[in-house]
Amino acid sequence: MRFDILTLFPEMFTEVFAASIIGRACQRGQAEIVLHNIRDYAEGKHHVTDDTPYGGGGGMIMKPDPIFNAVEAILGVTIPFEGYATLLPQGYPPIIMLTPQGRLFKQAIARELLPHDRMILLCGRYEGFDERVRQFLVTDELSIGDYVLSGGELAAMVVVDALIRLIPGVLGDEAATDKDSHSDGLLEYPHYTRPFDFRGHVVPDILLSGHHANLEIWRRQQSLIRTQARRPDMFAQVELSRADQKFLAQFDSAES
Ligand code: 6GU
Repeated sequence: MRFDILTLFPEMFTEVFAASIIGRACQRGQAEIVLHNIRDYAEGKHHVTDDTPYGGGGGMIMKPDPIFNAVEAILGVTIPFEGYATLLPQGYPPIIMLTPQGRLFKQAIARELLPHDRMILLCGRYEGFDERVRQFLVTDELSIGDYVLSGGELAAMVVVDALIRLIPGVLGDEAATDKDSHSDGLLEYPHYTRPFDFRGHVVPDILLSGHHANLEIWRRQQSLIRTQARRPDMFAQVELSRADQKFLAQFDSAES
């Protein structure tokens, strides 16, 4: 999977992408990340990338031309008057803008994007982009949560990380991403490792029992309890089995 990232701050990405899982995936050729400085595509001696808004109101707006130029250079294509989206049926990659106005990024969206072998990520700064970037270039807009960041760079890192770890082979066979929090609509169950007794706090007996079926039941129950307590929004969407319902009824009455 190849990511082309358009940003005014390419240096923000280098250490994050060189380390750990992403770094290893790139070294192995399982992922490729190409950083492009939007400034390099801005015309004139001063490579100006932003300007004041029409109608006033203060703040600075990212100009459309450097961004269109960058995409045209990266893909070797001319963006038609009707807009870039008309090229998607020919196999051109999605252009995803990171913006607090986008649809909320979730594990399901990571899985939805995974089949693409390439995508372009566009990181905003300042007050935002000239609206024509949205209208005639961008094909999708993502936000990573209900708070405001100084730019789309951190959000782009989040999206790239979430996608790369889902690429088959990146995590190795032992790590099943379908057990992750959010993959089945539940938060993960608790994990323990040695020592058995840490400062007087011992590991739950069930983990040492060797009874695999009971252990799976316990883990499911722990996931249910956690999700109900911490994420009622997720819990409302969970399909509860008869056994789940029976367990939760007992648990809830014991709690109250
Ligand atoms: Cl994608 N960008 C910015 N600037 N702020 C955000 C965001 C993105 N997602 C949440 N907050």
